[in-house]
Amino acid sequence: MRNIISTGNEEIDRQFGGGIPSPSLVFIEGAHGTGKSAISAQIMNGLLTTKKSLLCVIENTVKQHIQKMKSITFNFSKPFVRSQLIFVPMYIKNAKWSEKNTERILPAIKQFILEKIDKVDGVVIDSISPMVNNSKNESILDFLSFCKEIVAKGKTVIITSHSSDFSDATNTAVIGTADVYLKLGTVVVGDREVKTLKIIKLLGAADTPEAGFAFEVDLIFGIKIVPVSMANA
Ligand SMILES: Nc1ncnc2c1ncn2[C@@H]1O[C@H](COP(=O)(O)OP(=O)(O)O)[C@@H](O)[C@H]1O
Ligand SMILES: [Mg+2]
Repeated sequence: MRNIISTGNEEIDRQFGGGIPSPSLVFIEGAHGTGKSAISAQIMNGLLTTKKSLLCVIENTVKQHIQKMKSITFNFSKPFVRSQLIFVPMYIKNAKWSEKNTERILPAIKQFILEKIDKVDGVVIDSISPMVNNSKNESILDFLSFCKEIVAKGKTVIITSHSSDFSDATNTAVIGTADVYLKLGTVVVGDREVKTLKIIKLLGAADTPEAGFAFEVDLIFGIKIVPVSMANA
């Protein structure tokens, strides 16, 4: 049984047809700077507000990540201090990942999540890029089934990925496996560039979701939907 979790942003909830279905496997794909971290932070915001606890694998240090999120209106300090939000930095001081090492990241992260999963309601991986760069398709597909198993246990999994992370075949499998698949991009409207979010897949929405929307990441208001026809996006 899926619940619909509000993101805490009414406009975005409406676009998603009520909110984000949970438990679910959510993928957010996009190039650098398209707003993957911002959109995942918005969804995390909703989960944290409903008292869910999250394990969040990040690319930066905890301090850098909290500061960056704060600069775009998401304040994760409180849930972090209360251990409602546990950060796992992928960044390891002075460590250089060799090709052989990077192959081992995905299984290592899987093992780590497995050890902690009973203590949390959800897992966020922002982003999966450094883990899959040198991974074999097989290993990625194995990780996908692992994510699906976690979702079957009632957890929500959010993964952000770069458009070039997966081969075409793997990407088809990813979209097939996902409950929610969001594709981010940018579009130039007149003299300004806005971000776009296309809802490729959204299983279990309360109402019929929109096809997508355009948005800006505003330093005061956070994610702000801008009225742009998606026909051009
Ligand atoms: N400190 C900041 N100052 C101004 N804009 C910011 C700041 N941090 C993020 N942004 C805005 O948020 C957008 C999305 O960033 P982010 O969610 O980190 O993208 P991604 O995770 O896809 O790389 C950036 O393109 C930028 O417009
Ligand atoms: Mg990011």
